[in-house]
Amino acid sequence: MNTIFYFSGTGNSRHVAETLGRLTGDRLVDMADAGNDVMAGCQPGARLGWVFPVHAWGLPRVVERFIDRMPAMRHTETPYYIYAILTCGDDIGRADRLLRRCLARKGLTVDSVYSVRMPNAYVGLPGFDVDAPALAAEKLNAAERELSLIAADVVARRVGVCRVVPGAWPGLKSGPLRWLFGHLIPTYRWFSVRRDRCTACGACRRHCPTHNVVADSEGRPVWRDDCTGCLACYHYCPAQAVRYGPFARRKGQYHYPERQGESSEKN
Ligand SMILES: Cc1cc2nc3c(=O)[nH]c(=O)nc-3n(C[C@H](O)[C@H](O)[C@H](O)COP(=O)(O)O)c2cc1C
Repeated sequence: MNTIFYFSGTGNSRHVAETLGRLTGDRLVDMADAGNDVMAGCQPGARLGWVFPVHAWGLPRVVERFIDRMPAMRHTETPYYIYAILTCGDDIGRADRLLRRCLARKGLTVDSVYSVRMPNAYVGLPGFDVDAPALAAEKLNAAERELSLIAADVVARRVGVCRVVPGAWPGLKSGPLRWLFGHLIPTYRWFSVRRDRCTACGACRRHCPTHNVVADSEGRPVWRDDCTGCLACYHYCPAQAVRYGPFARRKGQYHYPERQGESSEKN
């Protein structure tokens, strides 16, 4: 079965996956919720796509873990067609190479890879904030055009396309900077709740893609340690009550705009 494996925190990559699914007819599988038998329906020859946000110029932890847990694929005469779409705010460094390496360990070769710029969701460090509305809208419009081109490539099973934006110093970003980011920022320990603002509405819990946020006895959020750092809890809080470390205090919020009557809440 042709399959799009996706992960999304604030909805950008889910939108990309859903658009692609609509244009190709391929089924969607959420990597954060997938069971161990997820590859069972993926016969040799199938199209397999990976769609996820770039986190710190690399793969989100939950995506790395999903690929780690996949069974190694046996070599067959009808190979899979493998492609990836990495969403990002600006640039991906060498995240495409990191993905290629992860998939190669499972016997899979990436045929084509794309990056798509979407509104930025990273607010954790000085100098990073959500985009101004005009820039966010411009990115979303450009992404729609890019997605139709990508879908045509996917249906035609084009091989050898590498249309990504590595940005300046990609090796430095996806190497030492990514390492520092992963080791110095204590993801879940940076989250706390402003008790004066929190209304215990549960939006942070419902939107956490890894189900890492639980409620205390008053219904307020508590973060467990299985956090992939997507910031969905921060961005979806309607009261701006979720704090994330010392640098996000005056930052904005963003999530992919939901259509009326539609909810991306997961549980
Ligand atoms: C923890 C974190 C790290 C990020 N790192 C990068 C990055 O290295 N480069 C970049 O251009 N965007 C980065 N972003 C922005 C996201 O990749 C971008 O907003 C993405 O489309 C969000 O996808 P989602 O809504 O599906 O979660 C980061 C966002 C988060 C939350």
